[in-house]
Amino acid sequence: MNSAEPVPAHVAIVMDGNGRWANRRFLPRVAGHKAGVSALRECVRACAVRGIQVLSVFAFSSENWNRPKDEVSGLLELLVLALSREVPQLVADGVLLRFVGERVSLADVVRDGLQRAEAATAMGRRLRLNVCFNYGGRWDIVQAAQQLAADGVEITEESLGAQMLMGQVADPDLIIRTGSEQRISNFLLWQAAYSELYFCDTLWPDFDEHALDRALLDYRRRERRFGKTSAQVLAAMDNQRAA
Ligand code: FPP
Repeated sequence: MNSAEPVPAHVAIVMDGNGRWANRRFLPRVAGHKAGVSALRECVRACAVRGIQVLSVFAFSSENWNRPKDEVSGLLELLVLALSREVPQLVADGVLLRFVGERVSLADVVRDGLQRAEAATAMGRRLRLNVCFNYGGRWDIVQAAQQLAADGVEITEESLGAQMLMGQVADPDLIIRTGSEQRISNFLLWQAAYSELYFCDTLWPDFDEHALDRALLDYRRRERRFGKTSAQVLAAMDNQRAA
């Protein structure tokens, strides 16, 4: 992709297909998640090179606890291992890492790992990486509403949006889901109101920079109207060019 072409400021990804990737190779599902970490590493780099400012990924949903015990523990171990291995490179690459999700119920070793990784990358200015972990979109809306109610603050679109865990980050422009399924699965429900959705058949471990570029190209062809008509959008663009 030509680096002069505009890119979405915020890309969010449902990284689906790790299990099928492993099944096809007669490997345990955790091997698919391990390969998924490598794909994520490459994707972070590719996003930074392309000037994307925020990348949000769905790593573990509130519902994923219902998976087989060995897969859940494998994912948690992978997270702790990935944090210790990946953080130095993230720091070197100017990545700010933030975890988005419920932390209170996590084991101490996991919660401490998240906190340490966030602290180590706090100075990153090139790309913000939001890893949604133990996260659910409905949960986030409810916790934000509960907080406002407890503080006696009126619930409006603005106050609720600001209270959500990603309240200080602009909504995703583009949401990608790999692995052939076409659903949101409780990811960024509030923030996805005007996001462009892109679905592809590539299984997450196979998602490389070329697959990312295909998604970005598709995004460039979309007309984002935010409830307006096409004529209004084109007129606003003409005005912007003339200014
Ligand atoms: C969905 O694929 C993927 C997940 C539930 C986990 C995503 C995690 C990673 C990509 C690795 C990064 C993880 C950490 C811990 C940082 P699936 O298992 O539902 O695949 P399937 O639909 O083919 O079964």
